[in-house]
Amino acid sequence: MKMRSLGHNGPQVSAIGLGCMRMSNITGGPQPGPDRNRESVAVIEAALEAGITLLNTGDFYGMGHNETLVAKAIRGRRDQAFLSVKCGIRRTHTGAILSMDGRPDSIKNYAAYSLQRLGVDYIDLYQPARADPSVPFEETIGAVADLIREGKVRYLGVSEINADQLRRAHATHPVSALEIEYSLASRFIEREMLPLARELGVGVVAYGVVTQGLLAGAMQGGVVDEALATSFARFRGETLRRNLEKASFLERLARSKHRTPAQLAIAWVLSRGDDIVPLVGMSRRSRLPENLGALDVAFNEDELAALDQAFAPGAIVGTRS
Ligand SMILES: NC(=O)c1ccc[n+]([C@@H]2O[C@H](COP(=O)([O-])OP(=O)(O)OC[C@H]3O[C@@H](n4cnc5c(N)ncnc54)[C@H](OP(=O)(O)O)[C@@H]3O)[C@@H](O)[C@H]2O)c1
Repeated sequence: MKMRSLGHNGPQVSAIGLGCMRMSNITGGPQPGPDRNRESVAVIEAALEAGITLLNTGDFYGMGHNETLVAKAIRGRRDQAFLSVKCGIRRTHTGAILSMDGRPDSIKNYAAYSLQRLGVDYIDLYQPARADPSVPFEETIGAVADLIREGKVRYLGVSEINADQLRRAHATHPVSALEIEYSLASRFIEREMLPLARELGVGVVAYGVVTQGLLAGAMQGGVVDEALATSFARFRGETLRRNLEKASFLERLARSKHRTPAQLAIAWVLSRGDDIVPLVGMSRRSRLPENLGALDVAFNEDELAALDQAFAPGAIVGTRS
């Protein structure tokens, strides 16, 4: 497995990480049944066997459900996994998102529950999922820094914050990784956040790399996941039709290279710099060999220029949230 560093002098993780979020119901309601859960655990185990170390989860993914899947998969092989956990989102009893919660005591409370559910002594990378506007970010980050001093957490991460918040977080405690959406379909970080992360020596963990299937050629027949179509404008109606037209460029290029569109979408993110680690969300073992094949994809200058043009910032329309 190719490895990358999370930030200057940061920890080494596999060049592709596994996103576990879609193994749980993240919009409320019942969690998947035993068959789906077994497959999800098998995906994580197979990923570890293939050399993927970076496992991305969050305590609010299925309100603990996701962490219990990860716990099962890493039992007896904790040392093979680099656990990245997000926290700080409060939900109602029905699973609806209530608010951010970045109060220092809450962060420590979330961590205590995560350690218990995951069955581990420490979390490798811990990050508030969003900044809580009602709490000075330094206080939220300070709580993670305390956890690091206590040995409960190894590295600080942040997620979907702005430039000012990244500077303030890094001034409070060195940030190892910024988790943020980045793909051919979402290039907004290139303007400010990516240069800033590089200036500060913060690694980037990119998510949404295959744009929930849009860039993997998985949406030609429409969007099967209703929650996805309801939540994201880019996956609805006329907007989706226009985006599929754009995405078809990737399919044509993939055919000419005897590759798949998903492989090209992942490889493009890998090609943007050694300081970027793409996460890929997978809940079926069958995805692994295909997606790991992205590690062997190389682009020539003409192909990179053509991708840059076809997926210029803003080419894929519709809000991302
Ligand atoms: N920090 C944040 O705010 C934030 C937000 C969202 C997500 N995340 C993290 O990032 C991870 C990835 O995000 P994501 O799941 O939203 O986006 P993603 O990786 O772009 O999309 C994952 C979806 O694409 C499908 N897929 C993967 N490979 C495929 C292939 N080769 N062919 C066809 N379909 C394929 C998966 O299907 P199957 O499930 O059927 O395998 C899954 O539904 C999440 O798991 C989560 O850990 C973080």
